[in-house]
Amino acid sequence: MPNDTAKLNIKNIAKDAEFAVLQGTQGPDVIDVTNLYKDTGVFTYDPGFMSTASCESKITYIDGEKGILRYRGYDIEELAQKSSFLEVSYLLLYGDLPNAKKYKEFSRKITEHTMVHEQLQFLYRGYPRQAHPMAIMSGAFSSMSAFYHDSIDIDDADQRELAAHRMIAKVPTLAAMAYKYAIGHPFVYPNNKLGFSENFLHMMFSVPAEEYKVSPVLAKAMDLIFLLHADHEQNASTSTVRLAGSSGANPFACISAGIASLWGPAHGGANEAVIDMLEEIGDVKNIPTFIEKAKSKKDPFRLMGFGHRVYKNYDPRAAVLRKAAHDVLKELGQENNPLLKIAVKLEEIALTDEYFVARKLYPNVDFYSGIIYKAMGIPSSLYTVLFAIARTAGWVAQWKEMMEDPSQKIGRPRQLYTGAKKRKYVAIKKRK
Ligand code: CMC
Repeated sequence: MPNDTAKLNIKNIAKDAEFAVLQGTQGPDVIDVTNLYKDTGVFTYDPGFMSTASCESKITYIDGEKGILRYRGYDIEELAQKSSFLEVSYLLLYGDLPNAKKYKEFSRKITEHTMVHEQLQFLYRGYPRQAHPMAIMSGAFSSMSAFYHDSIDIDDADQRELAAHRMIAKVPTLAAMAYKYAIGHPFVYPNNKLGFSENFLHMMFSVPAEEYKVSPVLAKAMDLIFLLHADHEQNASTSTVRLAGSSGANPFACISAGIASLWGPAHGGANEAVIDMLEEIGDVKNIPTFIEKAKSKKDPFRLMGFGHRVYKNYDPRAAVLRKAAHDVLKELGQENNPLLKIAVKLEEIALTDEYFVARKLYPNVDFYSGIIYKAMGIPSSLYTVLFAIARTAGWVAQWKEMMEDPSQKIGRPRQLYTGAKKRKYVAIKKRK
């Protein structure tokens, strides 16, 4: 609802052009510039979307200054303590927490779809064993649109729902298959007696020759990590999913695009980079050298797992994970894990260093997750894949919200053109 208006006076172009100022339920007001070009002939310029709300959404709220993250109005800390990944997936998709009956129904629907088409294994077998699992995941997701023709009609609400359930259910299976393929183990089918995160660990670590019992401590930690990563409003990969979806692309293709975007080290790829960095630091005594490298403008090195575009305070997910890392390592008898020691010390030093304090660079969600994964025996190339498992719930919820919005349009940004002006074609023989 327009709350106020904003006036724009552009020299020689527009005098007092007026725009509605929209107010959300929380967060900064936004100036609706939809008609700016039509009314004045100018565009806004905001590379990196530093000041641009790209859509309206009811799913996730972040106050970066205060370090607040809420899914559908619930504080992440409370959900982390009381909820589960599957319940949170329902919440993100449908807007409210399910009652017992609805939760049972939803779990059954997700469970029904945990297997993937048997033919998909041949796609996996076409990849080199050393392929990065994110390359496989993006390919596998895109390929699903070739297998599940009964859920790619985006104009059919039932098909959209089926696609949403399929993607949340199948992503752990696809991820575990990528791992099994890399290490030369047979693929392990899902066991639908197990819960979502338990099942994932079962597909990752069991082998046909041995009995395998999933550790409840690890399953709980895994579930917590999935819950914390489930959504994060309009981040790069979610915006990618929305932009891909805005053209009418099928949902599997959209999530494949999101996976590609998540892979980058500035986004989901940071959890893998954190462990590489902690291993490179190697010893607490080397931390000052790395802090200096991170501060140097001549050195491209950054402290991985530090800083965030939105949080200018401690990332609330990192706070939950910091504690979880200590608990899991204690449970596994790895309290003296050298990487955890380096991480704790690094954080302590960075949080008091003027450079990091002035720029409000705090640990983000990726800082502690890798340590937990490593303690669980998960290889670092899989860390971003775990992020993708969790974020699939958010991507799907955001895609669904967009598809249900009657005012949805194809996303088509414009540009500030700085290339050559009109020039004449010169025949190749006459060119200098
Ligand atoms: N180490 C050292 N300096 C940093 C860091 C860092 N990790 N992050 C930002 N800075 C500095 C940067 O050099 C700049 O300094 P100055 O103002 O002197 O030029 C200032 O802080 C602002 O940085 P920016 O690059 O303009 O900030 P941004 O909002 O564009 O970038 C970021 C956000 C997350 C990409 C960045 O902080 C970063 O590269 N962090 C390391 C990678 C990382 O941990 N990514 C995971 C993000 S959280 C999970 C997710 O959402 O996927």
